[in-house]
Amino acid sequence: MDHAPFDLAITGGIIVTPEGRFAGDIGIRGEVIAAIAAPGALGAAHETLDAAGLHIMPGAIDVHVHFRDPGMSHKEDWDTGTAAAAMGGVTTVFEMPNTFPPTSTPEMLADKFERAKSARIDFGLYGLLAEDNIDQLEGLIAGGAAAFKCFMGNTTGNLPSPSTGAMLEGFEIIAKHGHRISLHAETASIMAWRQRKLMAADRNAPLDHLAARPAIVAIEAVIRAAVLAEWTGARIHVLHISSADELRPLREAQLRGVDITGETCPCYLMLDSEDYARLGPVIKVNPPVREPHHKEAIWQALLDGTIGLIATDHAPHAPEEKTRANIWQADAGFPGVETQMPLMLTAVSEGKLSLEHYVRISAENPAKAFGLYPVKGAIRVGSHADLALVDLAREDRIDQAKLASLRSRITPFHGKHIKGLPIHTISRGEYVMKDRALVAESFGHGRSVHTVQHMAKPEPRHAEQTMAAVLR
Ligand code: NCD
Ligand code: ZN
Repeated sequence: MDHAPFDLAITGGIIVTPEGRFAGDIGIRGEVIAAIAAPGALGAAHETLDAAGLHIMPGAIDVHVHFRDPGMSHKEDWDTGTAAAAMGGVTTVFEMPNTFPPTSTPEMLADKFERAKSARIDFGLYGLLAEDNIDQLEGLIAGGAAAFKCFMGNTTGNLPSPSTGAMLEGFEIIAKHGHRISLHAETASIMAWRQRKLMAADRNAPLDHLAARPAIVAIEAVIRAAVLAEWTGARIHVLHISSADELRPLREAQLRGVDITGETCPCYLMLDSEDYARLGPVIKVNPPVREPHHKEAIWQALLDGTIGLIATDHAPHAPEEKTRANIWQADAGFPGVETQMPLMLTAVSEGKLSLEHYVRISAENPAKAFGLYPVKGAIRVGSHADLALVDLAREDRIDQAKLASLRSRITPFHGKHIKGLPIHTISRGEYVMKDRALVAESFGHGRSVHTVQHMAKPEPRHAEQTMAAVLR
């Protein structure tokens, strides 16, 4: 047995896992958890953190953030985006490819790896799956893409949605490797049709955005994606679930054995159509925040496991881009990576879910779905020491003027009272936030997770009928 002192000992706190909570001390050596011991039993350490009064959880893994570089770094970049993550108790992010130009080739992926060198926490990079880059998908995987993103509906960046034919071949190719394909599941043609008619009728108020995107767009897209995944064996993930209605095709696909996961975001759990009058265009997001009854169904699905992940769709825009009076001109989305944990801990304090379940949806399930478990998403000996230490009693108010997303300080949650706040964030054994302050030395500490990612290869389905096979 190795008796060398630990680099960092965390003592006196309560460790929380999906299975339960217990008083325990954590010994960290280098980047990993080296020991978990009964209180007081750990042994010597170079440095000790007194965690009395705090709960220790795996840092959140947010599989849906937009950090905007290249092309839109007036909204965000890797420095400010990962600073916001560190301040929010998030230790891994998966970053989206709708930058400009998009992350659709190995060259653009290599370019994004360069930009991500300023990351403060670990990250995975999404490659794009689009109509015109099917021949680039293998190269993106070889280049270190951690997952894929397919925009079935238009959103920031206005990337055209791929045809079902292109999606099928993309799914065939990616299925061989096991990477998960995340879907913006809203059908573009329905939305374009309705938006055109609304615009022609001079309808341009915030609620008209919701009128252009009824839940049928999500139902149709989830069904279509699930059928393609079932046929090819591809793993898929439904991003930002916004409606009660898309839960049924999601559940049905899960019951048929499709490897399909789902996420929702705080705005769909905590806001509804009644908030449009108060918030105006600031509430605009794709998919839209919907009528009140959707919220309850989404909460229920989060509790029963149909929706397994909480993510943020961190979609920063400059305040002037978010507040244009004509809803079609206002940008969609808002920052979230910094506010997700306080908002969800507040929900824990209100009895809406248990802290253990929060650990499951914020850390364990994302790690499992994206091939990182148990290196990440777990408090276990040998796991990366990626930790969020939270004070469940600490009360505060969300203040957009204080967000670490310097250029996108605008959120529909501005002014909301919260109870529960991350106090320290540790990424692979190093502080990235300490006592609610960003640690300057964390700049550049982050690393791509693709090197520790393990995606078991799924069973190929209809392999003899793939585009590649029939052309051979
Ligand atoms: C996102 C963005 O701004 O990049 N916007 C949004 O409204 N959600 C794109 C997206 O995830 O759809
Ligand atoms: Zn999206």
